[in-house]
Amino acid sequence: MKTNWRNYHNIHTSVPTICNPTVLGFSAYFHDSSACIVKDGKVLAAVEEERFTRKKHDNSFPVNAIKYCLSKIGRAPDLVVFFENPDRKFDRIKQTFAMTEHSDEIYRTVFTLWDEVKSRKKIEDKFSQTTGLDNQIIFLDHHLSHAASAYYVSGYNNATLVTIDGVGENTTTTIGRGDGLKIEMLKEIEFPHSIGLLYTALTVFLGFRPFDGEYKVMGLAAYGDDSRESNPYYRKLRQTLQVAEDGSFGLNMRYFGHNNLEMKAYRPELVDLLGLPPRHSADPMNGDYENLAAALQLLTEDLVLGILTHAYQIAPSESLCFAGGVALNSVINAKILTKTKFKRLFIQPAAGDGGTALGAAKYVQCLADNAAPSERMSHAYLGPGYTTDEIENVLNSENIVYHSFASEVDKRHTVAALLKAKNVVGWFWGRIEWGPRALGARSILASPLYEDMKDILNAKVKHREMFRPFAPVVCVDDAEEFFECDLPIPEPTDFMLMVYPIRKEKQRQLPAVVHVDGSGRLQTIRRDQNPEYYDLVKEFGRQTGTPVLINTSFNINNEPIVCSPLDALNCMRATKIDYLVIDRFLVRNCSQVSS
Ligand SMILES: [Fe+2]
Repeated sequence: MKTNWRNYHNIHTSVPTICNPTVLGFSAYFHDSSACIVKDGKVLAAVEEERFTRKKHDNSFPVNAIKYCLSKIGRAPDLVVFFENPDRKFDRIKQTFAMTEHSDEIYRTVFTLWDEVKSRKKIEDKFSQTTGLDNQIIFLDHHLSHAASAYYVSGYNNATLVTIDGVGENTTTTIGRGDGLKIEMLKEIEFPHSIGLLYTALTVFLGFRPFDGEYKVMGLAAYGDDSRESNPYYRKLRQTLQVAEDGSFGLNMRYFGHNNLEMKAYRPELVDLLGLPPRHSADPMNGDYENLAAALQLLTEDLVLGILTHAYQIAPSESLCFAGGVALNSVINAKILTKTKFKRLFIQPAAGDGGTALGAAKYVQCLADNAAPSERMSHAYLGPGYTTDEIENVLNSENIVYHSFASEVDKRHTVAALLKAKNVVGWFWGRIEWGPRALGARSILASPLYEDMKDILNAKVKHREMFRPFAPVVCVDDAEEFFECDLPIPEPTDFMLMVYPIRKEKQRQLPAVVHVDGSGRLQTIRRDQNPEYYDLVKEFGRQTGTPVLINTSFNINNEPIVCSPLDALNCMRATKIDYLVIDRFLVRNCSQVSS
């Protein structure tokens, strides 16, 4: 196959020169709308809209996220930037209409939505109506926002930049280079040739929701045949695309439906090729679907590593910044440093579309200030937090009976003992995490030492598919003892973005977090990131001999992670979580009393 790389479509974005600007970035109308504020050269706040509206993956205009970010500066920002170019996006939609037949109804629906909501003008109007501000909005490119979201907070002075997602405007994959202040986007692959949409098509085929169930497919894949030689679906899936020697690829669109706005993600020809009926969400799982998930994971790994290899050839650097929704595939991420020539890897916690608000804001800040980036994102605690008084007021107004810890030492001793005694604990600390993973600010914690803890967690709160694993958290200085991880341990493990094998001799010690293939999607924690969380894991180790906990997100299945104290109480009330630890207070479930 001839190459499918094209030169990047570089569109000049005019950014005024401003010394030390305060910049608001926001994203909307695709997945996970979000906002971010940058002040004094640093990310001051970043949050997804879903955390406020309680609607998972909320893609509406991020009114609440913007208001929260503006509240952190108390004045109008110098610059405002939107994460993508609506005109280019609409051009792609019009091209999609031109490629295939569509009904008048879908045509009218899409064009009306565009004219009334999603156009450049409507975004500008909505922003000024919502905020009362008259900033002129800068519109960036989607994949430039992705690339900037990783590079400008990586702490690297130069890096190879790779972005891979479903689609942004008309682009699905890019290679670029970061050098000091400057990002240079070099090559791209265009829609409909998309690794993200290939993964989504098979996610739908396997009976899961698009743009949500991809994590489930990644977990399911571990049950299937991981051999390219013997997995029958690998050979079949391989026929749905062509790959060039330079890592570029082209999907055969007779198998996929994403170039038709009225079709499913896949076409009947894919069903015929696979020789397997698509799974409906309520259907039982079986070995064929497990093998199909494994084949998809293998194929995705081939494609991603091929692109990264080419990226190293044309824009070599020891450091790789990786972004886009595909960079949330933590199984592949953990193979990058061993299977490519990159020595260092940075992925920011909101690698998917939510993270573009941060990338857009950082890009404009660095350009306006004409200053090379100096920021290294060392933690993800960038969303709303609540004072002790605010939390106590909520507990009192909700008539909650609670115990106050005497000290931080008392807190960690008590909570570690509760976990050791097999309790499930909601853990609410500080500012909420940026990105899809709970990292010890809004987490549910449990002991990994018991074989049945996965069942207990599912029965009490999570109600997830039984094939999905629970993730372990370990202090960074203990990680090597339990995991066969890259050394030095890459920063993305702090954001739960790498799946590593758990050492064979340790697997019996941690039965509740060992996935079927012996792996675990670990989170490493450093004390300076979250001292109470770090100290708790250490204390659990002192009490049990195993300094590892289960860390899963503080939410009910299909709801966003809890944000406010009231969200946490509501989640506790709706589940059988045994205890809630919130700031310096301990609440036992069912302890609400009438006034
Ligand atoms: Fe994207």
